[in-house]
Amino acid sequence: MKKIMSICVLSGLLSGLSPASMTAATLSGEAIFNRNCSVCHSIAPPPKAAPPIMPLSNRYHLKFQTKKEGVNHMVAYLKAPSKAKAVDPQAITRFGLMPPLRLPDAELRAVAEWVWDQYNPNMGTGRGMGQGMGRRW
Ligand code: HEC
Repeated sequence: MKKIMSICVLSGLLSGLSPASMTAATLSGEAIFNRNCSVCHSIAPPPKAAPPIMPLSNRYHLKFQTKKEGVNHMVAYLKAPSKAKAVDPQAITRFGLMPPLRLPDAELRAVAEWVWDQYNPNMGTGRGMGQGMGRRW
């Protein structure tokens, strides 16, 4: 009886609490954003120290045909920002170049996918920001 009890406790620990179960699929892009990006990026205008995410996402959707291409470009940018790669070089003139982010690839990918999904065609691409603001956002 004692033995059965301890097996139950052990298997409960293994199945419920193992950090190995935190695979890439369970990483929340939004949580990563809140922890690592939101100091500089707001989601919608007005901007903090960087362009807001929705207009950035809109630019990515204009420039890239597929989520895969957009996410690949974004991950490369987050690791090593440069004017040549920027979807919005004018943002660098206004805010300065983004610093490179030292996050694991899986986290960069999860957050880039989340940014891609923040696309909101009512919002425009960041300048002349009057339009669209009276709507839901
Ligand atoms: C220290 C401030 C800072 C932090 C932290 C930061 N960014 Fe940025 N980011 C900027 C600035 C400034 C720009 C605009 C200039 C540029 O493009 O380099 C920018 C630009 C971008 C762009 C546009 C890139 C392009 O292709 O033109 C994306 C996408 C982006 N950030 C996503 C993120 C994500 C996702 C995170 C968190 C994982 C993050 N940023 C964290 C400051 C920051």
